[in-house]
Amino acid sequence: MTAPDSWFDVSRFDEARRRRNVHWGAPLAVLETATSTNDLALEAERSGAPEGATFVAREQTRGRGRRGNTWWAPPGDNLTCSLLLRPELDAKTIAALPLVVGLAVREVVARRLERPDALFPAPPVLVKWPNDVLVESRKIAGVLVESRLRLEAVSAAIVGIGLNVRTRVFPEELAGRATSLARELRDRRAASAARGTTEELPAFEELLAELLASLERRYARFRSDGLASFLAELDVCDALRGRPVRVDGLVGIAVGIAADGALRLVDDAGTEHRAHAGHVELLDPR
Ligand code: BTN
Repeated sequence: MTAPDSWFDVSRFDEARRRRNVHWGAPLAVLETATSTNDLALEAERSGAPEGATFVAREQTRGRGRRGNTWWAPPGDNLTCSLLLRPELDAKTIAALPLVVGLAVREVVARRLERPDALFPAPPVLVKWPNDVLVESRKIAGVLVESRLRLEAVSAAIVGIGLNVRTRVFPEELAGRATSLARELRDRRAASAARGTTEELPAFEELLAELLASLERRYARFRSDGLASFLAELDVCDALRGRPVRVDGLVGIAVGIAADGALRLVDDAGTEHRAHAGHVELLDPR
């Protein structure tokens, strides 16, 4: 079923795409309810949908995150979308794709928060290895990439993005760890209102077009040059750099990200280790 226009206006999205010269986002499926937009994209992949096909749902009944986690998003509050890519790269290279997606999402969030405003300086928007976007220490977006292999190559990668937009109150287990554009813009909006101006939340159509534009640009570079060409960008927005962490069995100070997407850690003895996957536990929670 297609969602009502009031929630997501397809012609407004097409106009926003055209303005930014974005190719992805077509075909587009906008649903009122789905189990998960990643499921929609996986099904479409099986039926031969092209690269750039995009899926948006107002509500997910089984939205999922990494490592079997549930992705919580109240219906209509947040942007939950998936994009079908057909990268034909090897599985090792694709392992770094979530970081590139994270940089694209970060750019969109930062642009929305980094408006010049002397009263409220912009908070730092960071990428937390391997797949989170944070505002200061709170998560505003998550990325879930699910790949399909043919022989040794990844024939399809489903890029799922959940971006918190309108949620102001999070359930107890997420409170203190999650945020949204609405929460981050709240103080700014109060200040704007006091000055007689308004700073509205961005529309979903604009946000999705911006996200696709930001990712489309980076993806071309990722395919030709790999993650190496993003290391400088990652370096300046790395949420873990300089912090003590535990990643599964490894403990050390995070010192950056390697060209293959691994997290670099230096232990007490000064030896460098690399974590290729796993859950990051911060040992100096802020
Ligand atoms: C994470 O932080 O663990 C990743 C969260 C990814 C959530 C998005 S929402 C759209 C897409 N559909 C899903 O079921 N998951 C991703």
